[in-house]
Amino acid sequence: MTAANPQFLKFIDDNQDAFIKRLGEAVAIPSVSGDPAHRPDVHRMAEWLSEKLQSLGVKVESRPLGKQMLEGQELDLPPALLGELGNDPNKKTVLIYGHFDVQPASMSDGWLYPPFELTVDPKGTGKLFGRGSSDDKGPILGWVNVIEAHVKLGLEMPVNLKMCFEGMEESGSEGLDELISEEKDKFFKGVDCVCISDNYWLNTSTPCLTYGLRGIAYFKISVSGPARDLHSGVFGATVHEPMTDLVLLMSKLVTPEGQILVPGLMDLVEPLTEEERARYEAINATVKDFDDAVGAAITFSDDKVQTLMGRMRYPSLSLHGIEGAFYGAGCKTVIPAAVHGKFSIRLVPNLTLAGVTKLVCDYVNAEFAKIKTKSKMTVEMVHGGEPWVADPNHYNYRAAHKATEYVYGKAPDYTREGGSIPVTLSFADALGVNVLLLPMGRGDDGAHSTNEKLDTDNFIRGSKLLGTYLYELAASKE
Ligand code: BES
Ligand code: ZN
Repeated sequence: MTAANPQFLKFIDDNQDAFIKRLGEAVAIPSVSGDPAHRPDVHRMAEWLSEKLQSLGVKVESRPLGKQMLEGQELDLPPALLGELGNDPNKKTVLIYGHFDVQPASMSDGWLYPPFELTVDPKGTGKLFGRGSSDDKGPILGWVNVIEAHVKLGLEMPVNLKMCFEGMEESGSEGLDELISEEKDKFFKGVDCVCISDNYWLNTSTPCLTYGLRGIAYFKISVSGPARDLHSGVFGATVHEPMTDLVLLMSKLVTPEGQILVPGLMDLVEPLTEEERARYEAINATVKDFDDAVGAAITFSDDKVQTLMGRMRYPSLSLHGIEGAFYGAGCKTVIPAAVHGKFSIRLVPNLTLAGVTKLVCDYVNAEFAKIKTKSKMTVEMVHGGEPWVADPNHYNYRAAHKATEYVYGKAPDYTREGGSIPVTLSFADALGVNVLLLPMGRGDDGAHSTNEKLDTDNFIRGSKLLGTYLYELAASKE
């Protein structure tokens, strides 16, 4: 038995094609927040979403978030959309959050189909390929599907909805924290709990509820020397080369086994208890699920618990790239004049952004001082967010648990996630309420990767899940 209205569930089944078409429209807007050239598309995406919501009777306010400097250009930040549907004092009020910006994608990265055209797998698997299909346009449209079903069927919504959709999540949610603290006693007043659908199952068959996220500290090391790029034939063996210094520094951060080399950092991690270990044992996942999700057998460990803990409870340090370095086809014989190494550390409880930033900067400065070079170096934390853990025994989680059992016929796994959604902690702290992560997509969706996809079944059942959760929430005692 479920508390959800059967007409609602049927509407979702009956309108699958129209829902996919609408997801296609969203994916076709390349709202890449990190690329100045695409900034107008992020704004266009905000307008598109705002119109869709308004046409369903949602009261939407588009809130400008100010300006940003990016790659030497001053850019308008995309607005956040604050939406409201219903304000019945006898109902619970749920805040839902999603982001309508996406990661960059281009055919040359190895996509099978154009990333900004939603492609239904011609092999008939039901996979919907496209950038943002799973992260996070599919889930946002899941909410839209729920609202549309109720409006078109003339059904009363079981709860009041408040919405916060942003267009800068993939670039550190710039401007959003200020908006949340400004509005905490205004727009966000009366929110009972929060639901965010912006992560994934661990594998391809077991739904999950997620009660923790790692935080992130994103760093940039800049090394410069000559006033301009040089010819390596003319100046090689005569000048200090910034790229050589930078590569040496970056090699001092992490080992090929993933061990973080920043002194003192690992000492901060909470010791593992037997009880906690048992929680990872209980999760329905195998090392093979990880192999499948990454497309190769390359996990550090062959042990499931170790592998899960690597993602959920330990910090990690990843090297992302070097701006200013030569890349691409050909064999350019350049000595780059200035290079910027990018890396980030995923944070877990006890590792604060400020604490980790100090450890990293002190260490990189000390290592640089050891190099006999005349290059100049700076290291800075560019953006970040603290880790977050919630109480999974709250009624918010119980409602999602029941909804999952109804829609998928099985109990969800309880997971912590390795990725970061900085606004999660901002909501939990500023509003003082429970936050739930209720994912729609599977572990192999390939968010941020090539050939990102969302399975049609996850889109459809996921829409039912989001709606059913609202009914279960309304029916829950607390
Ligand atoms: N949807 C992800 C967050 C996520 C990733 C949750 C993996 C669970 C597992 C989100 O869109 C994202 O990628 N966030 C960025 C945030 C960062 C730029 C501050 C991330 O985690 O890299
Ligand atoms: Zn996301």
